[in-house]
Amino acid sequence: MSPDVPRRSLFAAGMGLTLAGLGLAACSSPDTSTGSGNGGSGTGTTTKAAPSTGSGGGAAAGNSVKVADVPVGGGVIMQTANFVVTQPTAGTFRAFSSVCTHEGCPVSAIQNGQIICTCHNSRFSIKDGSAISGPARRALGAAKVTQSGDSLVVS
Ligand code: FES
Repeated sequence: MSPDVPRRSLFAAGMGLTLAGLGLAACSSPDTSTGSGNGGSGTGTTTKAAPSTGSGGGAAAGNSVKVADVPVGGGVIMQTANFVVTQPTAGTFRAFSSVCTHEGCPVSAIQNGQIICTCHNSRFSIKDGSAISGPARRALGAAKVTQSGDSLVVS
């Protein structure tokens, strides 16, 4: 039996551990990357009461959504624009960027008063877009929402 074989095996195993360690380090980055400057302010607010009491929220077209599709205590993720429209209380609408401030995934759900990014489970308030839990530390960027008849236009 050659004494060289075990050394090669140990070397190979060591390389494997080292590479695995590098992989872990690359996958576990904290909230220090890809800041895109979502430091905007001036969340748009409308004051006209909406008749909606739904819980789901419908799909939005372009940069507008029907008032009736935005549930009180919930919101709608716009499919063709990178915005979320919420209605924290009846008749008060807010809009935010739908791009997560952690690593840029699109947010994917609105539940229990929270906007959720399922990439790494960050959660944001539907009231002001602030980060509630998860790896994201910064609020979703604020957008302007204007009511025009039975529609809400976001910009
Ligand atoms: S991209 Fe990581 S939680 Fe959204």
